Parts: sequence; structure tokens; C-alpha cells
Amino acid sequence: GAAQPVIVAIDGPSGTGKSSTSKAVAGRLGLSYLDTGAQYRAITWWMVNNGIDIEDPSAIAAVTDKPEIVSGTDPAHPTITVDGVDVAGPIRTQEVTSKVSAVSAVPEVRARITELQRSLAAAADQGIVVEGRDIGTTVLPDADLKIFLTASPEARAARRSGELKGADVNSTREALIKRDAADSSRKTSPLAKADDAVEVDTTALTLTQVIECVVTLVEEKRAAR
Ligand code: DC
Repeated sequence: GAAQPVIVAIDGPSGTGKSSTSKAVAGRLGLSYLDTGAQYRAITWWMVNNGIDIEDPSAIAAVTDKPEIVSGTDPAHPTITVDGVDVAGPIRTQEVTSKVSAVSAVPEVRARITELQRSLAAAADQGIVVEGRDIGTTVLPDADLKIFLTASPEARAARRSGELKGADVNSTREALIKRDAADSSRKTSPLAKADDAVEVDTTALTLTQVIECVVTLVEEKRAAR
């Protein structure tokens, strides 16, 4: 019935509109919202702040459990804190962005963050939209609906440089391609489309169209059960 919580996994590379889409869909349908990239950025921010050598996976693994990472899941006001400090701004810097792939490739980091993600999903009474790279494949393989968002590299770079104030489109595209390659080729739960995910190419779509498309897919799933 409609009262059962609905779990929606939205994966894809950067610049495909995952965050804007996921937040809007959750808001429209009264669901919770979780930005898992923000969690990986938060743990990366802590590593950088504490002088951990991010080139050394064993150094990262040794301190993975130290920071307390708390995500607020209201789509109208998503929050992220590390040891009680609001890090929503600091996790978006170029420095954190350039280091997050290395930190998030460490298996101990993924195990810890995955556990946080599963407990937040289980606690969402109405259900939740969880966005990331490995949600449909690894974190929530039993999700009611899995979406895989794609877009051309040009469209993705243009969207990202619009978000990052003053960033140049060409260097944004290079950095983004490099990060996606690292995220897709790592050993532990790489960026990948789940076999049962619905692929949506957003290159020629407006954000409103993508939101409509996903809302319709969720409503169809709810009606079917
Ligand atoms: O979505 P984002 O750009 O904020 O994500 C930042 C990084 O976090 C991304 O480059 C890879 C990593 N990430 C991940 O490994 N697994 C996820 N589920 C989400 C993000």
C-alpha cells in the first residue's frame, strides 16, 4: 500500500543533476533525502583538517572511525556536521573535491559510510531518496526504484562550472572526467549502473523534466504494489 516506505536510489557521475533532482523528488513526495557524496566529502574534510596523508590508504583506514558524521535528511534543509561542526560550505572547496576520490576509495571508509547510509534509510518512516555512486549496486540493492542519471561530458562540465563560482569550464571538465574515471575504476563498489536501474540521459532535458520523469516512475512503483 501507499503507506509503506519507498526507497529510491539515484546514482550517476557528477554534473548530471543528481542532487537537484533527488532533493526536489523527495520534497514533492514527502520523503527524506540523503546526499551520500556530502558524507564522503565530510570525512575527506576531516582527514585534510587533521593532517592525514591522503596518499596513504592505511593512514586513512586507521582513523576512519574518529569523526562523527551526522546528516540531516530533510530535503528542504539538508545538513551535514562533523563532530558537531556545520561543514556544508567547507566540503565544497576545490581542495576537498580534488581529494575525495582517494579517500572514498579506501574500503574501511566505504564500510563505515555505507553503514551510516543504511541506518538512515531504515529510519526514514515515509521512505527516502538516496543519491550517490553505488546506492543501487551496493548500499541499497533492494531499493524500490533505481535511477541512473547520465549526461554528455560537455553538459556536465557546464552545469558544474555554473555551480562552482568563477570556475573555468575547460578545467572543470578535465577535473570532472578525472574524478569520474577514478570513481568508476576503484576496486570497492565503483560508480556503476545496477542491472535493474532505469537509465535517464539528462543531456537534452531541463531539470523540471528530469524531476517529472522520476516522480512519475516513483508513483508508478507505489501504485503497482
Ligand atoms: O556527488 P559528489 O560529487 O558530492 O561526490 C563526491 C565524491 O564522493 C565522488 O567523487 C565519489 C564519492 N562518492 C562515492 O564514492 N560514493 C557515493 N555513494 C557518493 C560519492
